[in-house]
Amino acid sequence: MNEESKPTTTDGGAPVSSDEQSLTVGPDGPIVMHDHYLMEQMANFNRERIPERQPHAKGGGAFGRFEVTQDVSAYTKAAFLQPGAQTDVVLRFSTVAGERGSPDTWRDPRGFAVKFYTEEGNFDMVGNNTPVFFVRDPMKFQHFIRSQKRRADTNLRDHDMQWDFWTLSPESAHQVTWLMGDRGIPATWRHMNGYSSHTYMWVNAEGKKFWVKYHFKTDQGIKCLTQEQADSLAGSDADYHTRDLYNAIERGDCPSWTLYMQIMPFEEAETYRLNPFDLTKVWPHADYPLTEVGKLTLDRNPTDYHTEIEQAAFEPNNQVPGTGFSPDKMLLARVFSYADAHRARLGVNYKQIPVNAPKSPVHSYSKDGAMRVRKVSDPVYAPNTKGGPAADPERYPEAATWSASGELVRHAYTPRRDDDDFGQAHKLVREVMDDEARARLVSNVVGHLSDGVSGPVLERAFEYWRKIDEEIGERIEAGVRGG
Ligand code: NDP
Ligand code: HEM
Repeated sequence: MNEESKPTTTDGGAPVSSDEQSLTVGPDGPIVMHDHYLMEQMANFNRERIPERQPHAKGGGAFGRFEVTQDVSAYTKAAFLQPGAQTDVVLRFSTVAGERGSPDTWRDPRGFAVKFYTEEGNFDMVGNNTPVFFVRDPMKFQHFIRSQKRRADTNLRDHDMQWDFWTLSPESAHQVTWLMGDRGIPATWRHMNGYSSHTYMWVNAEGKKFWVKYHFKTDQGIKCLTQEQADSLAGSDADYHTRDLYNAIERGDCPSWTLYMQIMPFEEAETYRLNPFDLTKVWPHADYPLTEVGKLTLDRNPTDYHTEIEQAAFEPNNQVPGTGFSPDKMLLARVFSYADAHRARLGVNYKQIPVNAPKSPVHSYSKDGAMRVRKVSDPVYAPNTKGGPAADPERYPEAATWSASGELVRHAYTPRRDDDDFGQAHKLVREVMDDEARARLVSNVVGHLSDGVSGPVLERAFEYWRKIDEEIGERIEAGVRGG
């Protein structure tokens, strides 16, 4: 057989005799049931779709590498963060609320999820293009996402529902201000930053611990779309950001980000003027400046979106020796939630899908289950005397730890001196934005509130904005009432 001609085969590899005609009893007769190739085609088609991600359903991504350019070994012993280390990565960008086919340019935070295939296992940094989040307790996350998606009755998105939730959740003020400002709609995924938002831990070779935040700053410069540009693009090219990333990489214009860290000595967390684990707050740069680490570059497009991007499974629980969690309650909930979502969406053995499989050896005791393809060998239990893998606490101690004590309570965090909900949002409006940016913020909020928000929710929204900034609140109220 001529290899070049690539005859069509069944999924079982056997050549088929037609791509176009089913097997029938005479040209005008019925289809026979043993045309198993036709059955295979119909059955496969009926099962092509997998559940989309609950949040962050629409996205795109690419492959690349991360290179360490500075020496941060004083802060972490992670192998992939040592001077000169190079690590392969996959990065997926996304919107949060829209479905898989929704426009890329809707106003929304953008996901910035990176998987590093390190020599000590996969390390995932599942962040956003914003340094903060809407809520600080995971109990509210599900409700928040539902308020951003669709109503039960009309199946429509609804600004009234969004502002109802936001105004009853004052801790959202910082993130909502950020979202309604210029950076709420990036020009492209290449022109935005990525933040861990959460505080994580680093541990160095001597066992010394640090609290850290990851900041991937775009080397392309920040560029944003106005509401009008974004609305127009949503109609003319729903996949504008997906297309932009793909085309940039194809033409060799490979986007990159410089990784900087904010690093807080372990002991300072206790006395810092704001709770350093509260996800609704940033650490001001004046308190914790940025320390450069290295560069992340995307240089290879996927060739099969489904297997390489749709089936990619990012999970904040993927940490490696030298990195770890913090007491941020949102983060601790995410450590459970993502792996659970992947088991539901992709199946229990999702880590064997090539894009999710580590490039380092796996010696786990997981066994069997649907779609398991990696072979298991005996012994299948631990401890054992049969030469199976054994944990090595001397070499890999549980190092990224902290102490905790107290009654079981349902309470956010113990408030500190600067822990109010509106202060950092006010600073963003007053000290970071200029007059033009403030005017665009007012216009964006007026437009949003004028679209289906009324009654007590609207009154609360005016009050919410007055608490962020008295003058901006007045201008928003005047804009909505006059409009
Ligand atoms: P700085 O003046 O040191 O930093 C201001 C930050 O704001 C920069 O990181 C800048 O990002 C970013 N920024 C500029 N324009 C906008 C915008 N329209 N929307 C959102 N962010 C913008 O101040 P502080 O560190 O004291 O922070 C002041 C405020 O800046 C915070 O309350 C927070 O809202 C915002 N911010 C702070 C960050 C932090 O980690 N400290 C990170 C991002 C925002 P860039 O340098 O990329 O231009
Ligand atoms: C996706 C849960 C907060 C960033 C998801 C998914 C779930 C989820 C279930 C879908 C995963 C999948 O099916 O693949 C939660 C919970 C949170 C939370 C329970 C809080 C308690 C956050 C925060 C950030 C974030 C604070 C950013 C700092 C992302 C990103 C994705 C995602 C980027 C998409 C990942 C990808 O590209 O596949 N989240 N999330 N989430 N989340 Fe969260």
